[in-house]
Amino acid sequence: MSLLATRKKISEPVKGPVDDRPALLLAWYDRHRRRLPWRALPGEHADPYRVWLSEIMLQQTTVKAVGPYFEKFVARWPDVGAMGRAGLDDVLRMWAGLGYYSRARNLHACAVTVLREHGGVFPDSEDGLRALPGIGPYTAAAIAAIAFDRRTMPVDGNIERVVSRLFAVEDALPQAKPRIRELAATLLGPSRAGDSAQALMDLGSSICTPKKPVCSLCPFNDDCAARARGDQETFPRKAPKKIGALRRGAAFVVTRGDELLVRTREAKGLLGGMTEVPNSDWLAEQDDEAALAQAPAFKAVSRWHRKVGVVTHVFTHFPLELVVYTASVAARTRAPAGMRWVPIATLRDEALPNVMRKVIAHGLGGDSIRRS
Ligand code: ADE
Repeated sequence: MSLLATRKKISEPVKGPVDDRPALLLAWYDRHRRRLPWRALPGEHADPYRVWLSEIMLQQTTVKAVGPYFEKFVARWPDVGAMGRAGLDDVLRMWAGLGYYSRARNLHACAVTVLREHGGVFPDSEDGLRALPGIGPYTAAAIAAIAFDRRTMPVDGNIERVVSRLFAVEDALPQAKPRIRELAATLLGPSRAGDSAQALMDLGSSICTPKKPVCSLCPFNDDCAARARGDQETFPRKAPKKIGALRRGAAFVVTRGDELLVRTREAKGLLGGMTEVPNSDWLAEQDDEAALAQAPAFKAVSRWHRKVGVVTHVFTHFPLELVVYTASVAARTRAPAGMRWVPIATLRDEALPNVMRKVIAHGLGGDSIRRS
């Protein structure tokens, strides 16, 4: 038999208690489900607003990091209508620190759309949800399953890992995604799709972990193709990642007494609409002189003080290294066009992305801004 044929065979669901898998999974969930702030208790109906909000927050962020933000958001905006009536600035400010700010802009746009076009009620189908801002195929499936018990299986990274191990899927991600989705759907029973999805999420985060999975506690222990071979940690197979080239630039921390010079980024694009200190282009082929030449113009500043070291930050598509320059200007110095002075004491109220928090902390030295 050729290697290809062997691989194909390994990817097929194993024969045996196949029909029992959905029931096994739900029985495990009923005993071991995590209590999460957005999750309905057994017997309760999930609130679509809370499910939607949590799913948007959980895109690219951990359950642990999301918890306090989720609580803060639902306390401030208890339903989608309330968020739809809020200003984008308020939403961005509350989001500051969670990263990937286009999610916050889409969150607000989605709340506005649900309020204005759907009377404040979320559509209850995958297609209807998919049409809303910020809701892609995964999120639509997750909300449809968890909030509306639609029979669909959302597949995120955790679920990909569980399924690729259970069926020993040899194809590498991302090409293997359609196959993994098909196999994941075989874990749905006739009802409780949302619980099946959340069961797989919990299994992936607590037992079928990337390193050292605790197979002895897994409901699929006897049935897992990768475990039978003993190479479960090697799944999912992944195509080598292309990491963007390092970009470099300069950032300028200018103080006027107790105030800091800031500006607002353009609404569109990376960190759109967020607050930043003035900074240069971020380029792979950066030249230190050219970066410094983009410093804000102040007649009184003839020398910038270059801080020792650099600030590094890793965005999804590229790592960034910023040299930080500081200067202080006299009282009543006017801010250059498009910039403004903000009291350092109130920086925590600004929609400052993490990279800028690092720059400011480096420039001012020490723990100058705390998160609210
Ligand atoms: N990750 C994404 N969605 C989740 C959910 N609803 N529960 C736990 N982890 C998740």
